[in-house]
Amino acid sequence: MTKEYKAPTEVKPLEIINTIELEFMAEEIVPTGGFNYMAGGSGDEFTLRRNVECFNYKGILPRVAADVEFPDTSTNIFEHNLKVPFIMAPIAAHGLAHESKEAGTAKGIAEFGGSLMSISAYSGASFDEISAGLGNTPRWFQIYMSKDDELNKNILDEAKADGASAIILTADATVSGNRDRDDKNKFVYPFGMPIVSRYLTGTGADMSLNNIYGQSKQKISLDDIRFIKEYSELPVFLKGVQSPEDALAAIGTGVDGIWVSNHGGRQLDGAPGSFEVLEEIAEAVAGLVPIVFDSGIRRGEHIFKALASGADIVAIGRPVLFSLALGGWQGVQSVFEYFERDLKRVMQLAGTQTIADVKKARLKDLK
Ligand code: LAC
Repeated sequence: MTKEYKAPTEVKPLEIINTIELEFMAEEIVPTGGFNYMAGGSGDEFTLRRNVECFNYKGILPRVAADVEFPDTSTNIFEHNLKVPFIMAPIAAHGLAHESKEAGTAKGIAEFGGSLMSISAYSGASFDEISAGLGNTPRWFQIYMSKDDELNKNILDEAKADGASAIILTADATVSGNRDRDDKNKFVYPFGMPIVSRYLTGTGADMSLNNIYGQSKQKISLDDIRFIKEYSELPVFLKGVQSPEDALAAIGTGVDGIWVSNHGGRQLDGAPGSFEVLEEIAEAVAGLVPIVFDSGIRRGEHIFKALASGADIVAIGRPVLFSLALGGWQGVQSVFEYFERDLKRVMQLAGTQTIADVKKARLKDLK
């Protein structure tokens, strides 16, 4: 890949029929290396596909004559009252999708109002640039740690000063998955990463993901949860949880939230779809701490099924990035509006008035 990376620049609202199509539309306008980095997964991309497909093995049992009109999608997590039960997942390098980088995503979420942005440590924009878009919209910070705890303290200080109200420790990405598309394209980030450049040999520009992961902390343990929690005094999520055992171990360490995710099928190929492991994790967690779920959400039905299987909040990744590519901040606002509309439609048809009703809804195993 060359240095002359030309990300899309257009800013316009999108008429979204479904989010699957967004990927094909984005492919037309995003440079090959950047598009494949965003869209791709690891290995055979079995897990990437399975994340979406596996929602089809559970059916929503609709209730009729349920006295439902104008479903209410509001909910809360920690101190935040949200208009919708979905938020932006942490994703690196939004500048691959659009010249406005994370600031564009931030503005789209802020204009939508009532949701929350997860900021990736591998953001191509600085905290200040993102803040200019986010205004007073709440934000969580996802950390890829340095091997040096003093630098981790700096990063946590900066995130906290920026207003992060929780820290997300990503634990499933200690090396990169085997991303064949990136290898083929010799993908390197075309721009730097201001938040983590303090611990990289360079800025992040012209570096591969494996190079950057290699310079980040690879030996993540439960002690890191304790360290982050004690130092930042903020709630901490462990992200990348796929087993009840890991959820319980993290809770034993004092974690404040479990983030069920397989990194959008980008890390361990051959893992189950993320939704397939949600229910048993939720049973083990038993309401002790909130659960955020991501990987594979493309429709309102998916949000509904995840909430009905024990998630408290759902995080959305690729559909937001593709919308950013297609319409800048207005595209991001459009996709949040799409998911709100779509979830309300599903709630109405399923006979559920509130998110509490959705959480109690019955799903049926399908063959
Ligand atoms: C990725 C990392 C950076 O999946 O989260 O590409």
